[in-house]
Amino acid sequence: MNPSAVQQNFVFDILIIGSGAAGLTLALKTADFAKVAVLSKGDLNQGATFYAQGGIAAVLDETDSVESHVADTLSAGVGLCHEDMVEHIVTESADAVKWLVSQGVPFTTKDLGDTRKTDSVNADLSSLHLTQEGGHSHRRIIHATDATGKAVFETLQQRAQAHPNIELLAGCTAVDLVTQEQEGSSGSVCVGVYVLNQESACVDLIKSKFVALATGGASKAYLYTTNPDGASGDGIAMAWRAGCRVANMEFNQFHPTCLFHPHAKSFLITEALRGEGATLELPDGSRFMPNFDSREELAPRDIVARAIDHEMKRLGCDCVYLNISRKPADFIREHFPTIYSRCLEFGIDITSERIPVVPAAHYTCGGIMVNKVGETDISNLYAIGETSFTGLHGANRMASNSLLECFVVAFGAAADIHSKIAVTSHSPHIEAWDESRVTISDDEVLVSHNWDELRRCMWDFVGIVRNNERLQRAERRIKILREEVQDYYIKHRVTKDMLELRNLVLVSELIIACALQRKESRGLHFTLDYPDTNNEAMDTILHPRSAD
Ligand code: FAD
Ligand code: SIN
Repeated sequence: MNPSAVQQNFVFDILIIGSGAAGLTLALKTADFAKVAVLSKGDLNQGATFYAQGGIAAVLDETDSVESHVADTLSAGVGLCHEDMVEHIVTESADAVKWLVSQGVPFTTKDLGDTRKTDSVNADLSSLHLTQEGGHSHRRIIHATDATGKAVFETLQQRAQAHPNIELLAGCTAVDLVTQEQEGSSGSVCVGVYVLNQESACVDLIKSKFVALATGGASKAYLYTTNPDGASGDGIAMAWRAGCRVANMEFNQFHPTCLFHPHAKSFLITEALRGEGATLELPDGSRFMPNFDSREELAPRDIVARAIDHEMKRLGCDCVYLNISRKPADFIREHFPTIYSRCLEFGIDITSERIPVVPAAHYTCGGIMVNKVGETDISNLYAIGETSFTGLHGANRMASNSLLECFVVAFGAAADIHSKIAVTSHSPHIEAWDESRVTISDDEVLVSHNWDELRRCMWDFVGIVRNNERLQRAERRIKILREEVQDYYIKHRVTKDMLELRNLVLVSELIIACALQRKESRGLHFTLDYPDTNNEAMDTILHPRSAD
C-alpha cells in the first residue's frame, strides 16, 4: 500500500511502529496468522539496525556455553541485569541465529565467504565466523563482515515485502497511542495509533487489535551520537504519555570509538576492530587502556569510554587513536571493508594510519518496562527492541547483545499475540484526530533552535561524567524547553520535526530524573558526587501517574 493511501479508520490486526530488527522480526513471525502493518517515520532503513556493524552475540561454539555468555553479560551490567531475562535471551540465542540463517541473512563464514555461497537454509552454524568484542570472554559474535545490520535489515525487509499479509508504510510518523479504559479492570487497553502521514500532512487514525512499539532508542538526545536522526525516543515518550512505567533511563551508553572527522557526521568504528587486535593510543602513540583495566582494549564499553574521556580531558586533546595497522592489509580489507572504504573517503588509510576516534552516545539501556514477551503496563501494547527495558543490559549493555534481544523478545511477543488474537476484537468507537483549533506554524525556528539547545545541554551536563549541579542545571533548562515545545505543539499542526523534539525533550527529562535518583556510580552512570557503587543494586523505576 502507498502511504498516501492510508485512510482514517484503516484497520489492522497488529500495528508495528518501527521497521528495524525488532519490528520486522515481529511482522514476519505474526504475518501467517494476522494482518500486519509496519510503520517507519522515514525510509524503512532509517533505524539503527541498518547501521549495526559488529554483529550478534550467540552461543554457537562448542567451547562456549550459555553459562559463560550469561556470566559475561551480568558482569558487564554491573549487578543490575535481571538474571532470569539474561538466561532466557542467551538460551534462545542459537535459535535466533538459526532463524536468521533460514531467512537468508548472509553471515560471514570461517572461510570469509558468506552463507549465501553455501546453503543458506541448512548452513551449518559451526561454519559461521565468530569475532570478539568487549566484555565477552569468548569469540561469540556472528557477523556479515562489518555491515551486519545492513545484511539483517535487507534480508528481513525483502521477506516482509514479499509477504501478502504485511504492509510496509514508510513516511508515517506515529504521534500518540490511543488507549481506552478496560471494561472490568482498572487498567487501559491500546486500541490504535494516531499517525502523521508525511505525504498528505494529515494525521490519520489506524485501529489495531495489538500495537507494538519497535521505535529504537533515544541517543539523539545527545549532540554527538553514532545513531541515525530518527533515534528520538518516540516509543518511550508515547508509552509514558499513555501511562506506562519506564526504567533505568540514566544508563545511556557511550560507544568509545566514533570516527572523529569534521565531515563524518556519525560514523562508528566497530568494537570488533579491538576484538581483532586494534589498540587505543594517545597522540604520542602510547597505549593507555592497560592503566585502566586488566582486559585492556576489550574491557566493557563504560570503562573504555570513561578512560578515553579521562585521557582527552587530562591532555586537552580532541580525540584519541585506534590503531589496527599492525595487522596485514589484506586481513583488514577482508574483515572491515565498510570501515576501510569509509575512512579512505576521509583520507585515512587504516591499513597504514591510525583512526582518530571519540566517544559518542550510542545506546539507550533503559526504556519502557516489559516482561519476557514484550508486554507493557497497557493491555495489547507491546514494546520490543531498544525502546524497551527487559532487564537484559543492567547498568551497561554488553556489545552485540542488543540485536539478539530484538529477535528473542519479538519471537516471544509473536507467540503471546498468537495466543490472544482469537479472543481480541477491535474497539467499536475511537475519536478521530482533532486539529480544528491549530494553525500552520510560521515560526519553525523555535523547533530547530530548541533541538540544538537540548542536545548540547544533554551533552554538556548529562554526559559520561555527571554531578548533581550539572544534572540540576540541565533539569531547569529542559523544563523550560518542554514548556515551550508543549505550548507550540498545542497551537500548531504537527510536523515530524516538532513531534521528535516533543518526544526527545520528554525523554531527556526522564533521563535526568533517573540520573538524579541514583545516588551511586554504577556502569554507565558515573557521578562525582557519589563515586562508589552501593552494595544493593536497584532499578530506577518512574511511574507516570505519580509524575502527573
Ligand atoms: P531501530 O532499528 O532503531 O528501528 C527503529 C524504527 O522505528 C525505524 O524504522 C524508525 O523509522 C521507526 N520509528 C521510530 N519512531 C517512530 C515513529 N514515531 N513513527 C513511526 N516510526 C518510528 N547492536 C548489536 O547488537 N550489534 C551491533 O553490531 C550493533 N552495532 C551498532 C552500530 C551502530 C552505528 C548503532 C547506531 C547501533 C548499533 N547496535 C548494535 C545497536 C542496535 O543496532 C540497535 O539497538 C538495534 O538495531 C535497535 O533495533 P530496533 O528494531 O529496536 O530499532
Ligand atoms: C560495534 O560494532 O562496535 C557496535 C556493537 C554494539 O553496539 O553492540
